[in-house]
Parts: sequence; structure tokens; C-alpha cells
Amino acid sequence: MKNNMIIKNASQVVTCSGFKAKHGKEMSDLHVIENGAIIIEDGIIKAVGSTEDILKGMDESKYNVIDATGKTVLPGFVDSHTHFVFGGYREEEFDMRLKGYSYMEIMKCGGGIANSTTGTLKASKEELMTLGKKRLDSMLKFGVTTVEGKSGYGLDFDTEIKQLEVMKELEKIHPMDIAKTFLGAHAVPTEYKGRGGEFIDFIIEKVLPYVVENDLAEFCDIFCEENVFSIEESRKLLNKAKEMGMKLKLHADEIVQLGGSELAAEVGAVSADHLLQASDEGIKRMAEAGVVSTLLPCTAFSLKEEYARGRFMIDNNCAVALATDFNPGSCHTESIPLLFALATLNMKMTTEEAITALTINGAAAIDRAHEIGSIDEGKKGDLVILEFPSYKFIPYHIAVNTVERVIKGGKLVVNNENSGLLY
Ligand code: NIG
Ligand code: FE
Repeated sequence: MKNNMIIKNASQVVTCSGFKAKHGKEMSDLHVIENGAIIIEDGIIKAVGSTEDILKGMDESKYNVIDATGKTVLPGFVDSHTHFVFGGYREEEFDMRLKGYSYMEIMKCGGGIANSTTGTLKASKEELMTLGKKRLDSMLKFGVTTVEGKSGYGLDFDTEIKQLEVMKELEKIHPMDIAKTFLGAHAVPTEYKGRGGEFIDFIIEKVLPYVVENDLAEFCDIFCEENVFSIEESRKLLNKAKEMGMKLKLHADEIVQLGGSELAAEVGAVSADHLLQASDEGIKRMAEAGVVSTLLPCTAFSLKEEYARGRFMIDNNCAVALATDFNPGSCHTESIPLLFALATLNMKMTTEEAITALTINGAAAIDRAHEIGSIDEGKKGDLVILEFPSYKFIPYHIAVNTVERVIKGGKLVVNNENSGLLY
């Protein structure tokens, strides 16, 4: 019976079927099966179809059976951009923003990312583990079954490595799968003030080799932004990381239109993220190069900025993913319901596009579309069961969690209706 499961009679199985990123119009087709069933064996999806076809001649006694009458089944959500391992909070900065200071003004006065490096430096590995586990639990309850997590609150060798090691340890004790990203180039530390280029050299020579040798991260990311790291510095780091076998991501064109989207296409990044200021040309190049455009509307909301041009990107054939950007500064929320509300009500994305963006395209944004992000034979048995009969309830029940149960690798790990966490 271990990790063998049948889910039957679901009013909808929203398969999001596919094994790679969906571009433009493809994002609208969710491949829904009415009155559907799914069979999971040893944690892997064995079959999906109508309940009648799938269960014909099946001996159900060897499976844990869930009757999903009146409910909707979807692939587990993939939150492909977060910074969930950090020490200390920045509630005072949030309060300053409410009083009219901008994110960059706060950063220039020594707040922002530098503030979180102090908290993360002080926190022991055990403390970071406790905090990290709590945050993963919260995400799991929202239906997230795979998360991407970044370092970047160290900016020195030891603390960057500590953050990555914490994520590696968390994976061992938590059902969540974690895609780990090295974001050593998240800010220029005080001791390198005005010498960002030298800090990039330090990362390339001293930190990156250790990360690669010890298999601590799959992706290398950089905050490519005015007054942080330039296009040239970003290009240098990313090309070096690629040479060393890492996959690439960028925080691109968030505050200023610097050309990060174009750079993402040039270096063959898996994703470019934020993109509030991405140019028409940058959008065109991302679509052509197959760079997933990851949009983070909770951050724009939290910073009171204009949203990224999601509608325009989809209309121009981009593969758009949505993620929370959960972090202690610009966006202190892991709320998937809020993310859906903002994407649909404020960014002109349809419900179907938003679901694609958080499932198969989220998976593509961490290069895992071959193994998660849809309900297809051979993929991991990572599923979400909504308490309602249609996926349309997700944005309709505004900013409220509609997830009732979460299944991870064929095992029930959350039942929000009863006791919550079960793993
Ligand atoms: O994705 N833009 C840069 N990095 C983070 C912010 C992190 C922070 O404020 O601590 C982001 O929004
Ligand atoms: Fe970020």
C-alpha cells in the first residue's frame, strides 16, 4: 500500500498535461478530464483518465483510496522563486514603505538585503532549520509541493554555504522538494562598496567552485539591477557558472530597464524573473530563446509598483510562470491564493493561464517539467485536491485557500479540513 493511491470520481482532473513549458496560447488549455481518476504506484502516476475507464477491473484493495466526489484535482503547485531561508525580519522597513520611502531608498540607507544578511549571519543552522521548516509547512498547506529556494542573505562564504546546506538538510526531513539556487550576487556587501566587479571575482574564484564541487545548488542567479550588478558583471558571472555546469536564472529588469531580459536570452537562462520593466525587444527574445518569464505579482503589490506585462508577454508567445518571491523584504508572503488573485484580477491573466503558470510552467522554470507540474503517466504523484468542484473556484474565492488535501509522492501530507499536516 505504501504510496499507492487511487483518487476517483473527481468532478474535474485538471491535468495541465505536458512535459515542457507552454508558450502563449498553449497556456489556455488545461486538458481537463470530467469525472476523473488517477492511479499512483510507488509515488509515481501510473494512469489518469475517466473514473469508469481507469477503474475497470481494478482491485482497489491494494491502494489508499480517496473519493473526490464534488472536488477538483490539480498537479501540486510549483513555487519557482522564493528566498525562504533567512534570519531576522524587516517589519520596520515595511512600515517605512507604508510611510512613503521606496525600496531603493531604504536599501541606500543600509536597509534591505544587507539588513537580512545580519540576521542570517547571526542565526545558527538549527535556527534556520526551524524557521525554514515552518515556512515549508505553510507553503505545503497552500498546495505547493516543489519550491525553489535561494541563498543570498550571506554575501560571504560561510553564510552563503550555510543557507544552501540548510536547504539540503530540510529536503531530508520535509516532504517538499527543493530546487536550490546560489544567489551569492544578491547585493554588494558593505566591505566591497563601489567594487561590485571585485565581489563578482571573489564569488567566481572562491564560492562558486565550492558550491559546484559539493553539489549545493543547481542554479546560479544574480540581481542584475542599476546600483547592484551591471549587465557586464552579470554576464561574466553567469557565463562562468554555465562553464562550471550550473543552470542560470536572473533577477532581471525589476526596477530599471537595464536589459536583463535580453541578457537572459543571450546566456540561455532557464528563467528570467520579475521583469516589471522588460522591454518589447527583451520579451521577444525571451519567447524565441525559450527563457521562462517568471512573474512575481505579490512583490509588485507589496512594493506598490506597476505589475509586469503578463498579458503582453503571453500574447507575444512567452512561457510565463508565476511565483511568490517569498522573502523577508520586498515580499513577505507565501500566499498562493493572493498570487492567484493578483494574476487574474490585476494582471489580466485568465484562470487557465494562471494555473498553467503555477504548474507546468513553474516546473519548467526550474527545469523539472519532465517530472512534475502535470498529471501525466510517469510523473511524480504530487497532487492538490480542492474542496470545490471546479478549478474556477481558485480565483473566485478571493485570496482564500481552496486547497483541501495535498498529496506528495502518492502520500497524503495535508488535510486542511481536519488536522492540517499529516506527514
Ligand atoms: O526578489 N530583487 C531582489 N531580491 C529580492 C528581494 C529580497 C529582499 O528584499 O530581501 C526579490 O524581490
Ligand atoms: Fe527574488
